[in-house]
Amino acid sequence: MSVRRAVPGDESIVRGLRLAALADAPDAFNSTLEQERARTTAEWSRWISNGATFLLEEADGPKGIAAGVPYGGEPSARLLMAMWVEPRLRGSGAAAALVASVLAWAAADGASEVVLHVGKLNDRARRFYERAGFRANGHGFVSEWTGIEEIEMRRPLALEAGAP
Ligand SMILES: CC(C)(COP(=O)(O)OP(=O)(O)OC[C@H]1O[C@@H](n2cnc3c(N)ncnc32)[C@H](O)[C@@H]1OP(=O)(O)O)[C@@H](O)C(=O)NCCC(=O)NCCS
Repeated sequence: MSVRRAVPGDESIVRGLRLAALADAPDAFNSTLEQERARTTAEWSRWISNGATFLLEEADGPKGIAAGVPYGGEPSARLLMAMWVEPRLRGSGAAAALVASVLAWAAADGASEVVLHVGKLNDRARRFYERAGFRANGHGFVSEWTGIEEIEMRRPLALEAGAP
C-alpha cells in the first residue's frame, strides 16, 4: 500500500475513485454520483491541478483518495475533502496515511490550519478526524446537493512538535 500525489495523466484514476466513493457513500460528500459522472476529462485535470490530490494504491490498483484545496477567503487555511478508502481497507491505517499526506502538503504550502466538513451523523468519519487532531468548532451548513447537515472541523498545523 502506498500514497502518492496525483499528477496530470491520472484523470481516469481520480474519476474512478470518485465514482466508487459516491456509489459507496452517497451521503458523505457534497456532490452526487450523477455530477461526478458528468465531469469531463478537462474538469478532472482542473481537479488535479487545484491544490493536491493524493491516491492510495495497492499492487492491484487504486483504493483511496483525499484532496487538499485552497479554502475560500482564508489564505491561511486549506480544505481537506473527498476523503474515501474502499471498505476493505477501513480500520487499516490507510485513511490516516492519506490525511497525513494532505496535512504535510498544506503545511508545505504555507497553511497554518486545515478545515473539513463532515456529515453530522457520519460517526465513523467524525471519530476518525478527531483521532487525526480535528475538532468541531460549532459551525455548519446544510449541503445543497444532499440536504445533509454538515459540521465544520479544524486542525491547527502546529499541533505538536514536528507537525504537520
Ligand atoms: C472516513 C474514512 C476515510 C475513515 O477511515 P477508516 O479507516 O474507516 O477510519 P478508522 O477505522 O481508522 O477510524 C474510524 C473510527 O471510528 C470507529 N468506528 C468504526 N466503526 C464505527 C461506526 N460504525 N460508528 C462509529 N464509529 C465507528 C473506529 O473504531 C475508529 O475510532 P477509534 O479511533 O476511536 O477506534 C472511511 O471510513 C471512509 O472512507 N468512509 C466513507 C466515506 C466517508 O465517510 N468519508 C468522509 C467524508 S467527510
